[in-house]
Amino acid sequence: MYNDIFNDILEQVSEISGHLWNYGWAERNGGNISYNITGCASLFCERPALGTPRPIGFKVPELAGAYFLVTGTGKRMRYVSKSPLDNAAVIRICPDLEHYEIVAEKEIFPSSELPSHLAIHNFLQVDRPSYKAVLHTHPIELIAMTHNRAFLEKDVLTKILWSMIPETRAFCPKGLGVVRYVLPGSVALAEATLEQLKEYDVVLWEKHGVVAVGEDLVEAFDMLDTLSKSAKIYESACSMGFVPEGMSDAQMNELKEAFNL
Ligand code: 13P
Ligand code: ZN
Repeated sequence: MYNDIFNDILEQVSEISGHLWNYGWAERNGGNISYNITGCASLFCERPALGTPRPIGFKVPELAGAYFLVTGTGKRMRYVSKSPLDNAAVIRICPDLEHYEIVAEKEIFPSSELPSHLAIHNFLQVDRPSYKAVLHTHPIELIAMTHNRAFLEKDVLTKILWSMIPETRAFCPKGLGVVRYVLPGSVALAEATLEQLKEYDVVLWEKHGVVAVGEDLVEAFDMLDTLSKSAKIYESACSMGFVPEGMSDAQMNELKEAFNL
């Protein structure tokens, strides 16, 4: 019924949302996913909008006529995994670039974090045009680390997490940015996140969660999985009664050169 690219996206959404639930990162309706499906949305192009256009809260000049698959607000990842299209909205950006309309069969309202998702897609369209996926989730250990003020300073967490295992340095080469606590779902959160994305592919939201962007959803998830592994190693060492030493700067620089990071 759908083209191969759209089917692949649905499969990714199904697989990754299942991981989010199984990892304990998706309590109740925690987390959301959006995918730029403009290149494979032909099926939705002829569809009439359901209901009236809804405001985005700001302009998205790079997203004229763009289509997005966005998990629905209040929808649970464990059910997204079983049936993505019953738990996600398909939206189209209106010609005024300030509103969107719902074009899927069911009138499912997109995530409350839509301002952040659309601000990010608008930015990626110019800065990293091959990036199509945005993932927001609530990974336990990474969030726990944001409850320590010292870790919120620029690149402190990046350095700690990179130094736990070589993989993290290699597969999250930009590290991660931090946004101080802002009201979930707000335009202010979207703006603060954008500022960090100029430098990073992963951004931690203090005492809330994390956002990752990637060419596809698997790539975005894998970065979070790797960072989360480092956070768990840090926690595990602390629970054994010591603060882990971490790889040295020289060891991390050796990796940087070896892998051309
Ligand atoms: P939604 O159910 O609206 O996507 O909200 C979940 C969430 O994690 C908000 O930050
Ligand atoms: Zn959240």
